[in-house]
Amino acid sequence: MELSTVKEKLEKYGQQHLLKYYDELSDDSKTKLLNEIADTDFDVLNALNHKGESKRGVISPIGSMEIDEINEKSDAFRTVGLEAIKRGEVAAVLLAGGMGTRLGSDDPKGMYNIGITKPVYIFQRLIENLMDVVNEASCYIPLFVMTSDKNNEATVSFMKEHDYFGYNKDYIFFFKQEMAPATDYEGHVLLEAKDKLSTSPNGNAGWYSSMVKNGLDKKAKELGVKWINIFAVDNVLQRIADPVFVGAVIDGGFVSGAKVVRKVAKDEKVGAMCLEDGKPSIVEYYDMTEELMDAKNEKGDPAYNFGVILNYLFSIDELDEIVRKKLELHVVEKKIPYIDENGNLVKPSEPNGYKFEQLVLDMIHEMKNCLPFEVVREKEFAPIKNKEGVDSVESARELCKKNGIEL
Ligand code: UTP
Repeated sequence: MELSTVKEKLEKYGQQHLLKYYDELSDDSKTKLLNEIADTDFDVLNALNHKGESKRGVISPIGSMEIDEINEKSDAFRTVGLEAIKRGEVAAVLLAGGMGTRLGSDDPKGMYNIGITKPVYIFQRLIENLMDVVNEASCYIPLFVMTSDKNNEATVSFMKEHDYFGYNKDYIFFFKQEMAPATDYEGHVLLEAKDKLSTSPNGNAGWYSSMVKNGLDKKAKELGVKWINIFAVDNVLQRIADPVFVGAVIDGGFVSGAKVVRKVAKDEKVGAMCLEDGKPSIVEYYDMTEELMDAKNEKGDPAYNFGVILNYLFSIDELDEIVRKKLELHVVEKKIPYIDENGNLVKPSEPNGYKFEQLVLDMIHEMKNCLPFEVVREKEFAPIKNKEGVDSVESARELCKKNGIEL
């Protein structure tokens, strides 16, 4: 794109400052910057005009399948799930495109070593968990790994270096998610270098459209996949492609399912499953009013008592139906690296601006139905978000030990 056209585009969005260093750049850097600006979708910045506005519909309770019922029916569910897995109908998608800023490591989160007496990497823990099912079903489960521009190279080489922690590499497929520009609090896109915009991955809901862009939906279908289990990189105890969960969703005739845990407090900071205007949805903890916290369902139990743990099962047919829908962009406050007046890179220790993210909860809301499926918290939920304290390396280590995992 010509300089004049780029200038016009920037003017339209009030982002002319992005060419501040243009004149001092080399020819290569000039071209790089112009191309990046040409490729950037600045329409995402419109989300700033709606920041803080809640577009929520009418929230009502959704029935969850609870542990007692699951225990009673687990043999039957396991049989249904294992049959689907053996037929090659179940794939897993690891969401590993996030920046993990709260953990504060420069490496991708999955490379973090939580071991004490020996190295135990987060990626390794996840593969070990998946291997339990591979061994039970006697077949490999296709594993799609979503990375981003920021961590793809490091992730791919780390996995290769560690020989994929024993997984069959023919069943591992990497793909990159889309990026979005990041801004300061005034809505000005930041520069990360004189010839590069500050960008960040566009959230954890763009994974299926990124698979489609990379032709991996076709790959999945060629392999016979009908169900996709997505899971977060940071829960080191989670069960992946869990046959009982898969079986329960299939057996109940659902198009999607969400693993949930019983909340420890009514104001716990997790999203809770609900219905919104009669469709499955998630009410985020910051949208939880006192009224919702104290509401009871027909059994007299707290009505919004099951928190999501970012482990969902989707029917691929249903994903195809919704993939072209534009999901809402959420404005999220984050720490965004940028260059200062002197052109030096600053890595802020506190949030300094906004990122634009699509969230998986909006995908759930597009589903015809969804089965909230309770799991035992101490056995399946050990997220690593922070270095210390709640949901940290320390708390996850404790939970691993309780579950007999040597670290
Ligand atoms: P988080 O919401 O914890 O975000 O992601 P994060 O970026 O990893 O961490 P912080 O907030 O900067 O500390 C939950 C899951 O969604 C994935 C993450 O990798 C993690 O598995 N994710 C998040 C993506 O794959 N892409 C994104 O753009 C955001």
